[in-house]
Amino acid sequence: MASSTRLAAILKAVMHGQPNALNDSHYPSWHLAPVTGLLNDPNGFIHFAGRYHLFYQWNALGCQHQHKCWGHWSSEDLLHWQHEPIALMPDDDYDRSGCYSGSAVDNAGVLTLIYTGNVKFEDGSRTAWQCLAVQNSTGGFDKLGPALALPAGYTGHVRDPKVWRHGEHWYMVLGAQDQQFQGKVLLLRSENLHDWQNLGEIAGSGLGGLGQAGYMWECPDMFSLGDRNWLICCPQGIAREEKRFLNTHASAWISGELDYETASFRHGAFHELDAGFEFYAPQTTLTADGRRLLVGWMGVPDGEEMCQPTVSNGWIHQMTCLRELSARDGKLYQQPVAELQTLRAEEKVYHGSADNAPVLEAQRLELLLECQGDITLNFADNVILQWHQHELRLARRSLKTGEWLYRYWVGAANRLQILCDHSSVEIFINDGEGVMSSRYFPPHPAQLTLIGRAEVQARYWSLRHCM
Ligand code: FRU
Repeated sequence: MASSTRLAAILKAVMHGQPNALNDSHYPSWHLAPVTGLLNDPNGFIHFAGRYHLFYQWNALGCQHQHKCWGHWSSEDLLHWQHEPIALMPDDDYDRSGCYSGSAVDNAGVLTLIYTGNVKFEDGSRTAWQCLAVQNSTGGFDKLGPALALPAGYTGHVRDPKVWRHGEHWYMVLGAQDQQFQGKVLLLRSENLHDWQNLGEIAGSGLGGLGQAGYMWECPDMFSLGDRNWLICCPQGIAREEKRFLNTHASAWISGELDYETASFRHGAFHELDAGFEFYAPQTTLTADGRRLLVGWMGVPDGEEMCQPTVSNGWIHQMTCLRELSARDGKLYQQPVAELQTLRAEEKVYHGSADNAPVLEAQRLELLLECQGDITLNFADNVILQWHQHELRLARRSLKTGEWLYRYWVGAANRLQILCDHSSVEIFINDGEGVMSSRYFPPHPAQLTLIGRAEVQARYWSLRHCM
């Protein structure tokens, strides 16, 4: 499709679709969501020239995984985001099946995007190009074309470049599938963002003691925090365990030491990044004051997506809240970014048995909860959290079959921070040692009821609208 035709179609879709999305009772009031169509991965998250930029995989033309463009928001304060012109559209030969995920860097004052140009062929095969685009004086982006073709030894599933600067060079981690259909992460190096040298595989299925760990690793991100390096990735096809990795596709972290000289990553085991029903393809960036933030797609590419009721209002999915990462005792902790506290309205407090606690209005809620016994949190009869001494169990009905499905976080949880926004619940456990993120679609106004004889200490706030 020619750019001008596609732009006209998107404009029409937005003009028609926006009122339906914004009037949907499930539409978030402080999370980022598409004004129409489908949103998936966060892309190009960066602080550049005094503003934060967050791009996203966007099909403005419908709720299916097609026609992927890069939508674009910017913000000064990480709370109020404004729409920017669409950054990338799949209108060139090398990205004609989608401008897939990638990242952004500040290249000597030029905001530069590195993304995957996806090309699917009629016989079902595909190829991928890692491409560049630079911001122009109108705030839009000019494509510079492919910088990297498929590396030898891999299938057409090579995508999602995350690029950063270290010393004198640019480095890239890239998700890949090798010829034996094993998921891998490649490390590449460049002096100029245009010419890349593949340094080899630094992690993946069959490497570093991980055993069989999936047929494709998507959306890698590598960063340093505390005294080590952390690799975030989305392995597809890892085995479900009894209480971990229960989603169709997982998001995980591994930590270790990245040796830039030998291009090797000595690392430990896999850990699930979020134990809820919806979480995928996270990306991180550094804030102006040096905090490492993460944002994820609060969705998973699975068979239930299209059963979400928002599809009938022409939109689907949202981002997670922004989370600050920290490294403690060798683990990766996630906590809601501090800026969110400015959305808190008047503080309310409750001490007493869970059974006598007031019913809480769950549409825009932050709840800090401590409890020493077993209690249940009932989110509008749609999501049920059972808080046991050594385990959290989250239950939600399948949107497809109606059967109850479960997710778990195993460990002693003594403190929860819960964020609700219309159709989402994010549960932070023990100051961020674990997180469970899920969408749910309750009748509104949704209520949260605490059940159980145990004593609870609760502080809670209604959160102000900020989108
Ligand atoms: C992850 C993903 C990426 C790809 C993008 C396409 O959700 O499949 O690997 O670049 O989505 O939208």
